Amino acid sequence: MFSLEITTDNRKNQYPLILKQLQHLIEGETDWLANLSNSAAHLFHTLGRVNWVGFYLLKQGQLVLGPFQGKPACVRIPVGKGVCGTAVAENETVLVPDVHQFSGHIACDSETKSEIVIPVRFQGEIIGVLDIDSPELERFDEEDQAYLEQYVEYLVSHTNWSRFH
Ligand code: SME
Repeated sequence: MFSLEITTDNRKNQYPLILKQLQHLIEGETDWLANLSNSAAHLFHTLGRVNWVGFYLLKQGQLVLGPFQGKPACVRIPVGKGVCGTAVAENETVLVPDVHQFSGHIACDSETKSEIVIPVRFQGEIIGVLDIDSPELERFDEEDQAYLEQYVEYLVSHTNWSRFH
């Protein structure tokens, strides 16, 4: 059984532990669906002050809903649309301190107030995004971004993507 030390505050020192937990969580497993599913659940239950964590996967030029935790969400997001599509179009992480100030934000859960979207890259190409929503304004900053990018990098490099499409 995998045991989680759940934290509900925003102490940055939880990230080294979260990264270590990820190593144990996916150790010996390379299946992409299993690893994305477990890491969405892992982040949802450890980050604190989040209401949605999940992956959108790039398929034929569109982001399609993948493994997630939280309320049911919109299924397809065109590249360039919403926060997720913007992260793909601009090929970089997008930090949104207040979703109501982000023109084109796609509201899936009315509770969401801030959001971070991190591109998922395999061999230099974007294959999807990790989207994390919070019911608090300004929940994420550059330090969250740096750690979450590390998280995604570890996940991608320890997962087999050969049967992804
Ligand atoms: N807010 C996202 C859509 C996905 S949901 O937050 C789960 C966006 O604007 O792309």
